[in-house]
Parts: sequence; structure tokens; C-alpha cells
Amino acid sequence: MPAVSPVHSRVKVSAPGKLFLLGEHAIVYNGICLITAVDSRLYMTLEAHPADEPTLTITAPAVGLDHWQHSIDEIVHSNQVSGPASFIASCVALFHRQFPFDVSLKIETASDFAATLGLGSSSATVATALFGLSSLFGVGLSHRQLFDMGVEAIQQVQHLGSGADLAAAIFGGTLYYANHTPREIIPLDIPTLPLMVVYSGQKAGTVNYVQQVRQLHDSLPHIVPPIIELMLTIVEEGRPALEKTDWPRLGQLMNIQHGLLHAIGVDTASLADIVFQARASGAYGAKLSGAGGGDCAIILVSPAKHELLTETLTDAGYQVLPLSVNAVGVRLE
Ligand code: PMV
Repeated sequence: MPAVSPVHSRVKVSAPGKLFLLGEHAIVYNGICLITAVDSRLYMTLEAHPADEPTLTITAPAVGLDHWQHSIDEIVHSNQVSGPASFIASCVALFHRQFPFDVSLKIETASDFAATLGLGSSSATVATALFGLSSLFGVGLSHRQLFDMGVEAIQQVQHLGSGADLAAAIFGGTLYYANHTPREIIPLDIPTLPLMVVYSGQKAGTVNYVQQVRQLHDSLPHIVPPIIELMLTIVEEGRPALEKTDWPRLGQLMNIQHGLLHAIGVDTASLADIVFQARASGAYGAKLSGAGGGDCAIILVSPAKHELLTETLTDAGYQVLPLSVNAVGVRLE
């Protein structure tokens, strides 16, 4: 295959974070979910430099990388990069296989949000890396092509994951996402979504929780699979509620999804505390968002109650994050 050449010497791109509205965990079992992009973004600058022996250099302070460097030839042929550089290295290897190039790359990331918040920094990294490479070399990959490549990059590093986070990072907005073959990504037209996002104070490890739920699923085949089925029905009922902005109904479904997530063991005392305080303050509904074990809770609450609830939760020691949802997907900055 002929080598591609950079059409720019430098590009800057960004991708949004994400929040699961409904369907986390169930999505892993060839399920469906509702997910929204948040306006907290990960930025990536990519530079191409002529070189005899091309290298990849990454500076990503949020994950402790400071001029991390590796030969691109080795990355492409061994594909054995581990640690915090692995997502970007995996993207570079996949891109290089489809579009061989012979320049050095210098990649730098900066983020509006801490990697510890659970807003999907790995997926935003993969989305920006592939979109950035596509822009740098002018190969014009479509969102769908970026997504399919990104799913492969994540699988190579993590060996699991529904791809929902990545769909939100690439396409943005609010999505109905089906983890079937082929995966279906349906953008929803949502005029507003009055969500409050609260950090529980703990960082959660997605991979551990997905594996823990898998074990429970396999060891209790008459109990956990029906819970997963129920979660999928909640997504099906949640989609029209979201599209019709029927907040009382969506809130009710969020409460039930939280209860089911609690049942499969991924709730924590802090997440439950936030959820109970939100409900006591008259929110439509509240739930943990994502894998559980920490990260963020989301609260569907009318703007009129926003201020009082923010005060209550801040006094209780939680961090209310000033995020809005339905953000745009990957873009050139
Ligand atoms: O913890 P997060 O926000 O990355 O969400 C994980 C969501 C799961 O459904 C549990 C896993 C997945 O790959 O979708």
C-alpha cells in the first residue's frame, strides 16, 4: 500500500466526555442503552515531523506521560504497548496498517475533566487520536469508520467494552446505541435534558466491575439474566420518555435502573446517598451512571430545584459538576 503523507504539520482536535442515561451493564450483553455526550472535552494536538526512524512521542499529563517515546515500527509490528500510552499506541498501529506513513508523530493531550471522574477519558482519547490522524493525513474517515476502528483499538487494549462511550465521543449528542452486529447508532433529537451531575468522590475501575457482573451473571443464570432483560426493557421505555421530554416517566425509569444496578452489586454508599438526597429534594429521578463502584451520579431535576439541591449536596461533601449534556462529538479546534 502506498504511504500517505501529512496534509498539515499540526492539527488540534477534541472529543466530549459521556454519561450513561440508561442501560449500563445491560449494554454489554448485546444490549441497548441511552448515552449522552457532555461538554467537558479532551483536546489532542498531533504534529508530524519528517524522520528516518519514525517515533511516537506522547505527552499526556492527566495519565502521567511526559515525552513518552517509542518506535512506530515496533508499535505497528509488536502491538505490545501497555500502560497509559496503550490506547493511543493501539490507534496509531491500526491507522498505520490501513494508511502506512513514515513520519514521526508528536501527540499531546489536555483535558477539561480529570480522568478520575469516569466521564470516558479512554474513549475520548481513542476518538481524538483516530480523528486527529485522519485529519492530519487528510484521509477523511467518516464517523462510522472512526467508530469501527476505535472499537477495535479499545478491544485490543481492554478486551471488553460495549463501544457506547466511543459512539458518544465520536458522534456526540444523545444516542440510542445497540450493541448488536452491526452496532447501531441512532442520534436522538432532544431539545433539553435537565440533568445534574455529581461526583461521588471515588474513582471506579470499569473493567473490574464488568468482570464482576459477568461472574454474577454466569453463576446465577435464573436471576441475573432476567435483571439484565429488565434493564433493556427500561431502555426501550426510556427512549420515548426522553424524546417526549416526559421527565416524571424518565425519572421513574432512572430510579428503577439504579435499583437494578444496586441489585447486581455495583452501587456504593456514596452513590446511594446522592440518589436518596436527590429524591428527597424532589428530583424526578436519580441513578449512578456508568460501571458503578464510584464515579458520577446523574439527577433529573427541574431547573427550579437545581440551586437548593446543589447546596444540599455540596454541604454533604459532594462535588456538583457544572456540565451540560448533548455536546458535539469529535471536531477540529
Ligand atoms: O464506567 P464507564 O462510564 O466507562 O461505563 C461502563 C459501562 C458498562 O456498560 C458497564 C461497560 C461498557 O462497556 O459499556
